[in-house]
Amino acid sequence: MKILGIESSCDETAAAVLDGETVLSSVVYSQTTEHRKYGGVVPEIASRAHVEKISTVVDDAIEKANININEIDLIASTAGPGLIGALAVGFSYAKGLALSIQKPFMGIHHIEAHLLVNSISKDIPLPYVALIVSGGHTEIIHVKEDFSYSLWSKTRDDAAGEAFDKIGKMLGFEYPAGKTIGETAIGGNKKFLELPQPLKNKKDFSFSGLKTAVYYQLKDRSDDWINSNINDICASVQEAIVRSLVDKTVMAVKELSCKNVVIAGGVAANKRLREKLEEHSSKFNFNWYAPPLQYCTDNGLMVAAAANHIHKHFGITKSYEDIFPSMEWYNKYN
Ligand code: KG4
Ligand code: ZN
Repeated sequence: MKILGIESSCDETAAAVLDGETVLSSVVYSQTTEHRKYGGVVPEIASRAHVEKISTVVDDAIEKANININEIDLIASTAGPGLIGALAVGFSYAKGLALSIQKPFMGIHHIEAHLLVNSISKDIPLPYVALIVSGGHTEIIHVKEDFSYSLWSKTRDDAAGEAFDKIGKMLGFEYPAGKTIGETAIGGNKKFLELPQPLKNKKDFSFSGLKTAVYYQLKDRSDDWINSNINDICASVQEAIVRSLVDKTVMAVKELSCKNVVIAGGVAANKRLREKLEEHSSKFNFNWYAPPLQYCTDNGLMVAAAANHIHKHFGITKSYEDIFPSMEWYNKYN
């Protein structure tokens, strides 16, 4: 079954074609230049940029897949959560296209799509612990034997990606800063800044205190001092965020007696997170799985993969009929 997946929930206009387990194409247009000077995503600018790019991106995905649009069996698009104007562009475009070629349509949850991109050509044994770490979400989900979800813990304030981005902004990095912090941290001293471990023995995450701690440690320092210690500062910040993510994942593994961990979302691209999970996996006896780096941040393939998985296990009725800016997703199969 050939599925066209379309994503437009935030600042990426993306489309991909998946045929069973085979990726036929994946095209992502990132609106970095549009938003750069504002230091974050401007919703109105995002919607306009999606309108400008959506048909080119979808046409490109079809062309790169080397197929005709009529060969598509199902069209899926992100229904939420996300920026309402941005969601509306991809969702309406996808629904209209499905109508015009008379093929079924599925509305997909963005976070579920981040998770299910892991299902392509990988048979992850159930049950598993899913660590979802994106710019807007940080949560641990228990994925049970029947593929139903149960929320185990979540962030009480900022998401992990948001922590990277906000601290990055303090350090003068462009948005989004997660990847830059990760690259700048290479070879740095992880213990350079002494940073707190918020909610250390609790299941939930918290990152806003970390941001404040970094602020107070740097506020009386000169730009020269910050610049000459930037590798060490980034290594310390990254370590504090990753430590919290991995510690709570290990807590979930123990409490839920799971032998498998799946990571998903933009922060899943972080190399130190992957390295630390690898260290802990042998110590605590679990296997871990992550998407290929290019499918961690927003893309159309994750939407196609989620549609493929949901269609196969639950049928088309488990999709979303309309867009929604925010919505819980983990109760839908219970
Ligand atoms: O999943 P995503 O593309 O968008 C949302 O759904 O939010 O995640 C974007 C987030 C940003 O906060 C970005 O800074 C972070 O993922 N990110 C990273 C890395 N690559 C992207 N954070 C840490 N290390 C990375 N390599
Ligand atoms: Zn995302």
